[in-house]
Amino acid sequence: MILGDENEVLIFTFARLGRDSVDDENEVLIFTFARLGRDSVDDENEVLIFTFARLGRARPMIILAVETSCDDTCITILKSKINGDNFEILSNIVSPQVKIHAKYGGVFPSLAKREHQKNLPIVLRKALRVAKNPKIDVIAVTVGPGLEPCLWAGINFAKELAEKMNLPIIPVNHIEAHILVNLIDRDSTSLKLKNFPAICLVVSGGHTQLILMKGIGKYRILGETRDDAAGECFDKVARVLGLGYPGGPVVASEAAKYNIQNTEYKIHLPRPMISTKDYDFSFSGLKTAVLYLVKNLKSEKKLTKKKVQEICFESQQSIIDVLIKKTMKAAKDYKAKTIILGGGVTANEELKRQLKQKIEKEIPRTKYLVPGTEYCTDNAVMAAITALSHLIVKTKNWKKIIANANLRIDELRP
Ligand code: KG4
Ligand code: ZN
Repeated sequence: MILGDENEVLIFTFARLGRDSVDDENEVLIFTFARLGRDSVDDENEVLIFTFARLGRARPMIILAVETSCDDTCITILKSKINGDNFEILSNIVSPQVKIHAKYGGVFPSLAKREHQKNLPIVLRKALRVAKNPKIDVIAVTVGPGLEPCLWAGINFAKELAEKMNLPIIPVNHIEAHILVNLIDRDSTSLKLKNFPAICLVVSGGHTQLILMKGIGKYRILGETRDDAAGECFDKVARVLGLGYPGGPVVASEAAKYNIQNTEYKIHLPRPMISTKDYDFSFSGLKTAVLYLVKNLKSEKKLTKKKVQEICFESQQSIIDVLIKKTMKAAKDYKAKTIILGGGVTANEELKRQLKQKIEKEIPRTKYLVPGTEYCTDNAVMAAITALSHLIVKTKNWKKIIANANLRIDELRP
């Protein structure tokens, strides 16, 4: 048995208060704060976790999370310590399919699905072995957004496990997971995030969104890409230049070799939508500009190693300029107390460095959260953390869980 529902929290608290009703919900909070020996809590989850512990459910909760939204087969086993907001990652296995998709220059969904189906039992065995076979309390699974066949591979696997182990499933939104992985406080492996509103920039192979976050579970999409995602643009630039897949890391490393002081710096690529008043993005024009540029250079036999580096440098800078401009605009417009990055593209060192510099210069009081490098690209820790943050969401009929390739973060719950 894991958690009950919110009513249990209230009933327990009423009993402690020696009554059978309370005047309002604040009383519950005040009572719990007092018990916690503090005058505030980080977020509502703390109240729940504390109360469940008092209910005698003090056994640490073990979450098994499955993530297969794109081309990485990921399983994590995470142990939450009920007496606080700490947790421990018992195992975190990522099985990438890069080699298989490299020849297509992108992810081939039906092939990825087959690979997930093949890999999941192997990854599970490894995750359980590394975690020393703990007793699992709840399963979390990414249900969207992502590639639909891939999502189904994970969901069906999670359902089979749930059936076998008689466990509930918590559905996870992948975009929210890219944001909430920032809850990991790297020093103490605890969940910390207090300063709202936050502006979240989620940039991955499939998504580019600016999200206003007012708390855990409270999101509004401010803007998003109208065509290609930023990661997709990195991937396409790499493909045009014959640099392989995924494009982000290789474009970044070629760009780093280019010396900006070089007087031959001539290429200038567009910064699509950089000056529009909205928070939307567009990257397909940039991709097309690179395509024509490379075609011309090839026909003139001028596509030298140096030129490739220069194109990588300028493409990366174009993407960074647009992302930073719109993120800063949103942060200023909404008086953000925190800026949060998430998604594969946030592995880009230049993006992180340049945004940090800009924040320090223009809005120095704004906190800046970026995931550790291992948590930028897809992994199942992010799904486990998201499930942990939403433990109150009990999926009564998990058999009805379906994949939703276009799931939006501002839809109520997955
Ligand atoms: O979040 P993610 O692992 O998967 C999706 O949900 O899409 O993101 C993958 C994307 C790919 O497009 C990849 O090229 C990009 O993240 N990426 C990077 C870097 N590392 C990965 N883009 C720019 N710079 C990087 N260092
Ligand atoms: Zn992702």
